[in-house]
Amino acid sequence: MESRTPLPDSLEPIERASVSSLRDLQLSRLRWSLAHAHANVPHYRGAWDSPEIADLSDLARFPFTDKAVLRANYPFGMFAVPRTSIARLHASSGTTGRPTVVGYTRDDLDTWARLMARSIRAAGGRPADRVHIAYGYGLFTGGLGAHYGAEQLGCTVIPVSGGMTERQVTLITDFEPEIIMVTPSYMLAIVDEMHRQGIDPRTTSLKVGIFGAEPWTEDLRTEIEEQLDLHAVDIYGLSEVMGPGVASECVETKDGLTVWEDHFYPEIIDPLTGEVLPDGALGELVLTSLTKQAMPVIRYRTRDLTRLLPGTARPMRRLEKITGRTDDMIILRGVNLFPTQIEELILRTPALAPHFQCVLTRTGRLDELTIKVERRPGAVPETAFTAGQELATHIKNTIGVSVTVDVIPPDGVERSLGKMRRIVDNR
Ligand code: DLL
Repeated sequence: MESRTPLPDSLEPIERASVSSLRDLQLSRLRWSLAHAHANVPHYRGAWDSPEIADLSDLARFPFTDKAVLRANYPFGMFAVPRTSIARLHASSGTTGRPTVVGYTRDDLDTWARLMARSIRAAGGRPADRVHIAYGYGLFTGGLGAHYGAEQLGCTVIPVSGGMTERQVTLITDFEPEIIMVTPSYMLAIVDEMHRQGIDPRTTSLKVGIFGAEPWTEDLRTEIEEQLDLHAVDIYGLSEVMGPGVASECVETKDGLTVWEDHFYPEIIDPLTGEVLPDGALGELVLTSLTKQAMPVIRYRTRDLTRLLPGTARPMRRLEKITGRTDDMIILRGVNLFPTQIEELILRTPALAPHFQCVLTRTGRLDELTIKVERRPGAVPETAFTAGQELATHIKNTIGVSVTVDVIPPDGVERSLGKMRRIVDNR
């Protein structure tokens, strides 16, 4: 793989600043953001008295904001600027109930584009690279977020959106992009389609893949890098806080997601007690926007589980690769597990493919988990069957819970065009 480390002088000054000057900037921006939210959003004015803080740790006294607050203020109640200043709306679909609506001013859109440009550069993207965007376009923030960021960096954008997998492969072959931006699960579907068309995925023009919008593991990174001979880099974000580009991995270290702390202040809390945990502890990520005009978010509970780690490639702190969402935690007979733990074990089993789903059922009062996983094309069915039995034993030994592993033929698990549905709850 060719080196894609950005040149030091291509970084923004804040990406090279000292931690103490970063903290100073955060404190002044946090003061602005709290005052702005308090003055202009009735919910925040009702939730706390004074926006005054002496230092960053004072943020811990403010109440959390969660999805329920956003829903209760549907659609525009959380906006802090007049309707005429809103330049764009996005919404997250949400499986139940009302969607969550988010708004952006012109300045917010500029900030987002600059942070996405920074993220793409951190991932190894360079001006004049061709960027194939297979994140969905529309109310989802993935497609348009990536789009304006790539343009801002000076790239050539190929706005493909998700779906029509055959055509994705044709466009990659014909337009020869250096970069692809897509969910990791849909990347795997595109790789399968390349094989189907007789194309060796290692021979394409792709040099960097920027993957996010769903949890994925180190083992999947290794798998994708080997299959495609490219740098597989993680990107994180959520519509409530902006969209993609809240945190992004640096290609030179690939050691977790650098939080763009000049625009977002991260905290990790105990999801049960709400207590702020020290850096390094595993817990729920809480984010506060420092510069957002249209829809400031103060202590937004993301439900994503991760740790805050010290900066390496940049002065900003990093997030460990996300384990999963608290909502996606399967509690099976008292044992907690996440689909990412299953993914890790599957990828260590050569006869099994990384296409899987966790199916929950209930017999009587007992919950049961069946892992539906495909065998690798080319693997002997009997070998894959035995590998499945071994996987069940392995899960029992490492996670401590009995599951059924159902090894099915290639293409048996429905492919996602965007975020993969890992859990099918039939209880
Ligand atoms: O998924 C924004 C995005 C688009 C991020 C493209 C990255 C790339 P939402 O639809 O609002 O926004 O979903 C946000 O997706 O709270 C996480 O649970 C999950 N998620 C996003 N990125 C990652 C990641 C977009 N890199 C929710 N790793 C978040 C793990 C992720 N989970």
